[in-house]
Amino acid sequence: MTTPLRLGIAGLGTVGIGVVKIIQAHADLLTERSGRPVVISAVSARSRSKDRSADLSGYAWETDPVALATRDDVDVFVELMGGADGPAKDATEAALDVGKDVVTANKAMLAHYGQELAQTAEAQGAVIRFEAAVAGGIPVVKALTEGLAGNEIRRVMGVMNGTCNYILTRMESSGLPYEDVFEEAKQLGYLEADPTLDVGGIDAGHKLSLLASIAFGTQVAFDAVELEGIQRISIEDIHHAADMGFKIKLLGVAQMTGRGLEQRMSPCLVPATSPLGQLDGGTNMVVMEGDAVGQIVLRGAGAGEGPTASAVMADILDIARGYRISTFGKPAARLTPAKAAKATAPAPYYLRMELQDKPGALAKIATVLGEAGISIDRMRQYGHARESAPVLIVTHKTTRDSLDHALSGFAATQVVMGEPVAIRIEEV
Ligand code: HSE
Repeated sequence: MTTPLRLGIAGLGTVGIGVVKIIQAHADLLTERSGRPVVISAVSARSRSKDRSADLSGYAWETDPVALATRDDVDVFVELMGGADGPAKDATEAALDVGKDVVTANKAMLAHYGQELAQTAEAQGAVIRFEAAVAGGIPVVKALTEGLAGNEIRRVMGVMNGTCNYILTRMESSGLPYEDVFEEAKQLGYLEADPTLDVGGIDAGHKLSLLASIAFGTQVAFDAVELEGIQRISIEDIHHAADMGFKIKLLGVAQMTGRGLEQRMSPCLVPATSPLGQLDGGTNMVVMEGDAVGQIVLRGAGAGEGPTASAVMADILDIARGYRISTFGKPAARLTPAKAAKATAPAPYYLRMELQDKPGALAKIATVLGEAGISIDRMRQYGHARESAPVLIVTHKTTRDSLDHALSGFAATQVVMGEPVAIRIEEV
């Protein structure tokens, strides 16, 4: 087949320009691999006059992304504008309504509207592909949907926000507090326009909800992701965790339990020697566990022009090759509503508290833990310059309910100063 595959690209930011550059640089390679030329018919972006690092003169310009998405000379609408609602969603729906395929990097849009968009696509005989929406250049959607298609997936987890991983690892290496490193990341341009998307865990939560849908055959349920950001992680905890052999990561975990689908995106401790523990800087890592395959670990750049454009191109080439697959790996009508697990699976916890330095204080804490049915695995008390002593406890596995019970018990002892810190330790 030599009919070209014709693209309409909406959004000419970092990723859009990256896609244009790959298509211009690798035209022959792409044709050889897919059996047909991949060409750009038209592009669209907010500002036409902006200076961009690629030659766009050969492409028609549309000011309205909906007009771009529905052009007769566009076979695939490539949505790289971002934003859950607004122009991105309008143009995606417009493309699907006229039966055009969509390739998108838009995790927010799919996290909120994935199910309805998948249904529209299937009703129109179109496909939606979104490799670039999760973990940038890492081909994790393909791995889960295709490479592991023969497995019952046990658990999917990972570090899927490079900015948070940069902040946490930089805090550890520099000894600087969160606020200073946040400012540094901002100056370096690492943060989204709305930084809460990054540091509040929302961006990573969007990604986790998409992987969970594929892994467990459930409708995307972003609202059911238990979200906690990294804003409250202190440099003390980073140092103490390191001292106990752990790293703190903004870790996403999705698993199907007897109680339903558990989806968490929150700071966790992981062993410093584990692949996740060794992940430094802005890199992403996704860990997948299947009943037949065991554990698979994928690591790579989660953002940036080349990596994200690389993922967009993989989807475009699949479409050029005639490979068509349901959005979340099985027909949208067969995805089941996710029953959200309210309580999380038991885990060990890291506790840090300031104890009054007086006889019996530690005994009171140990008693509260014992009465809550929580067993202590390890404990460490540090030198006390003031009237209080920092105490670290690593518990054996316990439920969040028991832990909450113990935390309120601590308050009643009147020997704990300030709020104790409790962070889950994930077995990875
Ligand atoms: N802001 C994200 C990150 C990339 O830092 O990983 C886009 O999802």
